[in-house]
Amino acid sequence: MVLEADRIAAGVTGHTTAKVSALHGRVYSGLVRTRGAEGARLYARSQRDAAEQTAAVAAELAVDCDLERRPAFTYVTDPAGADALREEAEAARAAGLPAVFTTDTGLPFPVAGAVRLDDQAQFHPRAFLLALARDLEERGVRVHEHTRVTGLTEGEPCRLTLENGHTVTARDVVVATHYPVFDRGGQFARMSVHRELVVAAPVPAASDPHGMYITEENGTRSVRTAPHGDGRRLLIVTGESFTPGTGDVPARYERLADWTLRTFPGATGISHRWAAQDADPTDTVPLVGRLHPGARHAYLATGFGGWGMSGGFMAGRLLAARLTGGTLPWQDLYDPTRLWDAVREAPALLKHQARTGKHWLGDRLRTPRVESADAIPPGTGAVVRVDGARCAVYRDDDGTVHAVSARCTHLGCLVSFNAAETTWECPCHGSRFGIDGQVLQGPATRPLEPRDIDTA
Ligand SMILES: Cc1cc2nc3c(=O)[nH]c(=O)nc-3n(C[C@H](O)[C@H](O)[C@H](O)COP(=O)(O)OP(=O)(O)OC[C@H]3O[C@@H](n4cnc5c(N)ncnc54)[C@H](O)[C@@H]3O)c2cc1C
Ligand code: FES
Repeated sequence: MVLEADRIAAGVTGHTTAKVSALHGRVYSGLVRTRGAEGARLYARSQRDAAEQTAAVAAELAVDCDLERRPAFTYVTDPAGADALREEAEAARAAGLPAVFTTDTGLPFPVAGAVRLDDQAQFHPRAFLLALARDLEERGVRVHEHTRVTGLTEGEPCRLTLENGHTVTARDVVVATHYPVFDRGGQFARMSVHRELVVAAPVPAASDPHGMYITEENGTRSVRTAPHGDGRRLLIVTGESFTPGTGDVPARYERLADWTLRTFPGATGISHRWAAQDADPTDTVPLVGRLHPGARHAYLATGFGGWGMSGGFMAGRLLAARLTGGTLPWQDLYDPTRLWDAVREAPALLKHQARTGKHWLGDRLRTPRVESADAIPPGTGAVVRVDGARCAVYRDDDGTVHAVSARCTHLGCLVSFNAAETTWECPCHGSRFGIDGQVLQGPATRPLEPRDIDTA
């Protein structure tokens, strides 16, 4: 049974760019250092198998999901980064992938270096997943949409409490809610969240660079194209990675759109834009397996770090094996209860802890930038102090004021206004809320509390 808070395939996976690849940025050189050569090999094998399985399932179900084979590239334009990519190509090759270092990418600008992995794939994620869900329903799986889970009591059986007051019992439970809504193994301390913006622009077919690209430069740029329907291609560009609830999001959209239109010949206007976020474990390896060391029937799948297409499929296979009494060779690699490398992981862990601490405490001590709800112009929102408490106040275009508590219902950090998406976002673990306080994205499971305030 699938219990889905909203609609299936409408979460992060409905907004991803859906490159299905085993080349994940610069993951292999890092893995060799943190998990050794064997860890890197298991990662490569599990992700490559998952990518191939995705294509095999699409073919088996005859899903019309625009699946196209493309080479994947990780590139840099700054010559200072070229050696790191040489190292990555070598590490990926040693891990068993036929990766090569190159400067020939098909992009309309020179690069200082790139890792290339041929015969990867891209597809339309919703078309694929909706067909998969139909197939599962035909096989007897029940899918309940608009069914938010708010509690889990482990046992035999496990009990799930739903927002609508019902209870579901199950022998085994998999928590696959993106950022986990239940933290029983300290995962909140070891996973940060980054949000990314996406813009799309139709381009002539002749402008298609014919690859899938990513660079860490400029706060990340990721590029692919998709069929457009009128003979042109839809160029899809993501980037401007940031912590949810921070910074000037409209300005970031401007930068990304500007880069896209300047960089790709034939791109004359942005036709679509959206945003999504992913969770990054401090050791870059997804968390798939037991929810905590003592868990017997509760499992977790999260922390895909921007690579949840192959990662999600890998997780499905790994958990299916565990639930039916089997094991896969990479079970320990992804185990959420694994021992973490205190030395190598420490910088990422400390950075995440410091950022969370800064928001939890620092945001409370800081004087709000806007003095009162009366100072909020129509169409904008801000956190203001009302009777000593922080309120998240939005004034709509008609002047009506919508006020909710600014205290995130997850662990109490203060939310901030995202002017590009008209949402409240929490910088600590990425919960997102509508202007009326309803949960748009977890880990929070309860809405922001409504507030009655007097305004002029
Ligand atoms: C901009 C962007 C581009 C990306 N591009 C790529 C790419 O090209 N290739 C790649 O491999 N990866 C990519 N990723 C990463 C990938 O999209 C994610 O790793 C993946 O989609 C995460 O899947 P998920 O199942 O964990 O989360 P989701 O798809 O969000 O699924 C979680 C589901 O749980 C539901 N839920 C939440 N809380 C509850 C609750 N309390 N009760 C019931 N249901 C609940 C949600 O509504 C949601 O439907 C990208 C990520 C971003 C942000
Ligand atoms: S998401 Fe954790 S405190 Fe808000």
